[in-house]
Amino acid sequence: MQIDLILPTFKIMTQFNDTFLKACRMEPADHIPVWFMRQAGRYQPEYREIRKKYSLLDICHKPDVCTEVTLLPVQQLGVDAAILFSDIMLPLGPMGVDFDIVEGVGPVIHNPVVHASDVDKFTLFHPEQSLPYVGQTIKQLVNELNVPLIGFTGAPFTLASYMIEGGPSKNFFKTKSFMYHQPEAWHKLMAKLARSMSEYLVYQVSCGAQAIQVFDSWVGNLGLEDYREYVYPHMQTMFGALKHLNVPLIHFGVVSGHLLEMMKDCGSTVVGLDWRVQVDESWQKLKYEVAVQGNLDPAAILAPWPVLEKKCTQILEQVHRPGFIFNLGHGVMPQADGSVLKRITDFVHNWKSNK
Ligand code: CP3
Repeated sequence: MQIDLILPTFKIMTQFNDTFLKACRMEPADHIPVWFMRQAGRYQPEYREIRKKYSLLDICHKPDVCTEVTLLPVQQLGVDAAILFSDIMLPLGPMGVDFDIVEGVGPVIHNPVVHASDVDKFTLFHPEQSLPYVGQTIKQLVNELNVPLIGFTGAPFTLASYMIEGGPSKNFFKTKSFMYHQPEAWHKLMAKLARSMSEYLVYQVSCGAQAIQVFDSWVGNLGLEDYREYVYPHMQTMFGALKHLNVPLIHFGVVSGHLLEMMKDCGSTVVGLDWRVQVDESWQKLKYEVAVQGNLDPAAILAPWPVLEKKCTQILEQVHRPGFIFNLGHGVMPQADGSVLKRITDFVHNWKSNK
């Protein structure tokens, strides 16, 4: 199948849908916007077909294929935002991290950080020189899309945890041990990552991304005090460097209910909620000063429709003001059924307006 040839003929001719941006800015909109973290991926037969030909990183390196993969869920589901197809590991390559993304496992790092001196081996990078294909993909996408494009990066803690653990982890013992034993090297690593990732995001916005999301997927494994000491200053630096961009800054972590206030205080304008928390309680904790995004349990997609409908309703009934973006509480898993995601999207779009 000549999948790459489909792209040039595709152009959505309808008016630009800015519902997502309005919700991020807490402005009233016609409907509650929806998008799904990991909305492009293995649950799609078309994606699996493309992956037979290209690795995940190959896709990221090829603007035409990457554009096509990013557009697929927008076309199929009718979601209110696109998210650049990429991976949080991509910008670590030019910093000197040697990694593979192993199917069913995740990122595997061949030169993990063990000693304090290892941190010095990683260099800052210039995104427009090292990752020009990302900028080209973004430019192509904004030309094609009638919804906003979300650019993204991993947050320093989540990236550092991969760099230190050497791969996925359940308990993050190596990361925490490094943090406690080598605080100076830890802060050096975090500062390097914060600077590189904020520059990477500035680059994505300069190419046309209209919002950004910072994925701190694994930071919920830290207690409040550790977050304050080892992570917070770097997140403040990072969001501080992004403020002038004037685009929504979404900050997301899994099992992060105990960190929400600090995640807001870092300087984000939208806070992502995982499915373990209540929308109304969390929003109140955040004093309604930021928009919130979430938070359907990804596993609910496997439930029969009446159960799923009830879960969506339970979320939507907690929303009484502008500034809510419907999403999952984490990414779409490969077992998901695209037609169910479409049904959720339609259900949320038809929900009574959040005036
Ligand atoms: O949301 C989107 O549609 C954009 C695509 C996207 C990918 N990775 C593509 C991908 C995004 C936003 C990411 C971010 C990412 N990558 C995170 C943060 C979000 C989260 O889920 O917490 C993390 C922790 C990673 C690291 C990573 N890369 C993991 C844990 C995995 C899954 C391993 C597996 O095989 O289950 C990957 C691989 C990866 N990145 C896939 C996709 C679609 C899996 C499919 C494939 O290998 O083709």
